[in-house]
Amino acid sequence: MKTEYLKASEASDIQRAGELLRSGELVAVPTETVYGLAADASNPVAVEKIFAAKGRPRNHPLIVHLGSLSMLDQWAAEVPDWLMTLGKTFWPGPLTVILEKHPGVTDVITGGLSTVGLRIPDHPALLNVLQTFNLAVAAPSANPYKKLSPTTPEQVFEVMQGKISAVLDGGPCHVGTESTILQVLPDEARILRSGPIKAPDLQAFLPVPVVTPRSHQYAVSGNKQEHYQPDSPLSVLNSDDLVQGIRMHRSDEGYLVYSPALANLRHPNLVVLPSDHAGYRKMLYTALYQLDKKRLQRIIVESPPDTEAWLDIGDRLSRAASST
Ligand code: TXA
Ligand code: MG
Repeated sequence: MKTEYLKASEASDIQRAGELLRSGELVAVPTETVYGLAADASNPVAVEKIFAAKGRPRNHPLIVHLGSLSMLDQWAAEVPDWLMTLGKTFWPGPLTVILEKHPGVTDVITGGLSTVGLRIPDHPALLNVLQTFNLAVAAPSANPYKKLSPTTPEQVFEVMQGKISAVLDGGPCHVGTESTILQVLPDEARILRSGPIKAPDLQAFLPVPVVTPRSHQYAVSGNKQEHYQPDSPLSVLNSDDLVQGIRMHRSDEGYLVYSPALANLRHPNLVVLPSDHAGYRKMLYTALYQLDKKRLQRIIVESPPDTEAWLDIGDRLSRAASST
């Protein structure tokens, strides 16, 4: 299969992306978080293709991306008041909400669960496609199963070329890591995947306490410990241990740091990320892709701050480092 390269800035390419999706093809699309591998969510045969292209087990549920709040009632069994408030506050944006599914939602998307994950992504090109073609798309991150999520069209092209119909180039993702996943139950609201929108941001809009359970307590298939992985083994070390490694000048190791104190160290495989959370988040996967290209023995990442704001980064790095 030849993979077309479409530009979000070209009206005819936006049109082409919509037509391909409508006809049941897979198109990688930009979102504000990471690139998604999209299929028309109302077409189970199209959605099936996602699992083959990614090598993803069929029981791992997918997120459905909508173009507007008015589409919610086609996908959720019920639209509670709190959801409208949350939606008006955080959408379009990096928040996925798990809801009881509308009876019409195919099991291919939900992996047989009674619930479905929904979000309205904050990227003008994708919103344009969804709204113009009145489409909802099921889309996981556009990476092979367990690997790093892509945040640039080039990264997607490299791993998905030949497997999908097109990549829609909407530039680098401005958030850079995956959406927060929230499930609201009668007695509590659970953050199932930490992300850019944190528990305190959500609390004011919800009728029940928001909790962030340890990653695996409420795992569904798809919430795997081993995830977001570069090809080279990755370890997370504190700054002091990491400095010792850098000073030994091992050319087969790569280092990813953010502390200003480490930024002046010299090493050919040293990547320095911004020390603010948003700046770091935006560049994290791109930096890991870059180091991974060097085929290193090991990638060593400076441990992130142990604070609520950095929970999402700590989660991604611990999964990237996991070898269970
Ligand atoms: O930022 C994002 O969320 C990106 C962009 C493309 O929107 N998407 C993304 O999708 O990260 P994916 O498939 O890589 O991760 C979605 C995760 C699944 O692994 C699963 O754990 C969870 O969402 N999920 C989906 N449906 C669910 C459900 N009904 N109940 C609980 N968790 C669900
Ligand atoms: Mg993913």
